[in-house]
Amino acid sequence: MAQESTRLYPPGVKRPEPSTTLSATLIGEHPSIVRLRQLIDRVGQSKARTVLIYGETGTGKGLVARLLHQASNRAPAPFVDINCAAIPGPLLESELFGHEKGSFTGAVGHKQGLIESADGGTVFLDEVRELDMVMQAKLLTLLDTRRFRRVGSVRTTDVDVRFIAATNKILLGEVKAGAFRDDLYYRLQVVSMNLPPLRERGDDIFMLAHAHLDVCNKVHGSRMRQLDPEVEEVFRRYAWPGNVRELENLIERICLLEDGEQVMLKHLPDRIIREARNARPPPAAPGGGGPPYHEATAQFQKQLIGDALADCRGNLGDAAARLGLTRHALRHQIQKLGMNTP
Ligand SMILES: Nc1ncnc2c1ncn2[C@@H]1O[C@H](COP(=O)(O)OP(=O)(O)OP(=O)(O)O)[C@@H](O)[C@H]1O
Ligand SMILES: [Mg+2]
Repeated sequence: MAQESTRLYPPGVKRPEPSTTLSATLIGEHPSIVRLRQLIDRVGQSKARTVLIYGETGTGKGLVARLLHQASNRAPAPFVDINCAAIPGPLLESELFGHEKGSFTGAVGHKQGLIESADGGTVFLDEVRELDMVMQAKLLTLLDTRRFRRVGSVRTTDVDVRFIAATNKILLGEVKAGAFRDDLYYRLQVVSMNLPPLRERGDDIFMLAHAHLDVCNKVHGSRMRQLDPEVEEVFRRYAWPGNVRELENLIERICLLEDGEQVMLKHLPDRIIREARNARPPPAAPGGGGPPYHEATAQFQKQLIGDALADCRGNLGDAAARLGLTRHALRHQIQKLGMNTP
């Protein structure tokens, strides 16, 4: 199985084959993502029965959980995805563990629980922090004994599943705040994976954007293939609080609503342009000590001009006035710097 996730996305391939879904691929060449793919192979094939995934919203926790399942010898058995925040508290126990006939009002028949239905496979406990204290205690017992009791039953049932728990809250903080059991936390975090936010993945933003352009072009019949350099700059500086999901949604919206083959600044929501402009520039590439003088000055000039043009919605005369230049001088600078003429 070592090749499973590698086969899905071989290292070194910059632009994945267009497909109609991204769900099977973990795209990225940033060192943190390369390491993550290796970890998925290794942990996937290991005997680890509990894995904890941490990452901000939209960083790919659900995707990584599915890849871990696919990389394991449990792949032919079910992958059961349970969102602990979506099932109301009183229902959760019978949903997870099942119940016997007559065990409570409305229990008209025997019902198999989600955990039992995953026997031999993987249970993905998404938003595990949202379990209340009672369910946290029951989960701990289940993790320790691999046994559970259906609601209303006196007998215990054995189950063979791998548990993958995910959270976008720092669980240790929740433990300190008394909202999460410390013994459950230590039990869960034996094997843990951290998914970095998109803003820390360097050029992976562009790989992901291009891959999603390919998907949307296929699905929606659009023809968007490129990102304008000014859009690249905004993408680099914007914080992406919704991470990969936010990027995918933005690309999809543009493919649905805009014409042309290049994503332009005017296609982006004002809010994103504004927030990107207000953000600090991304850190210089490691090891280089920053770009040389001429390159740095040119970057600064491009930034100033790009910001003025963005503020003035691409109107050359207005941008020139804002910068204290003549229209002719601004046009000359734009050409000299190799920027796109509005
Ligand atoms: N590295 C990646 N390569 C390709 N697609 C990715 C990558 N990371 C995330 N995605 C895609 O981004 C979207 C969001 O990912 P996912 O639902 O797994 O995030 P999440 O961390 O579970 O979010 P939430 O915390 O909101 O549940 C999905 O469409 C997923 O396929
Ligand atoms: Mg998720």
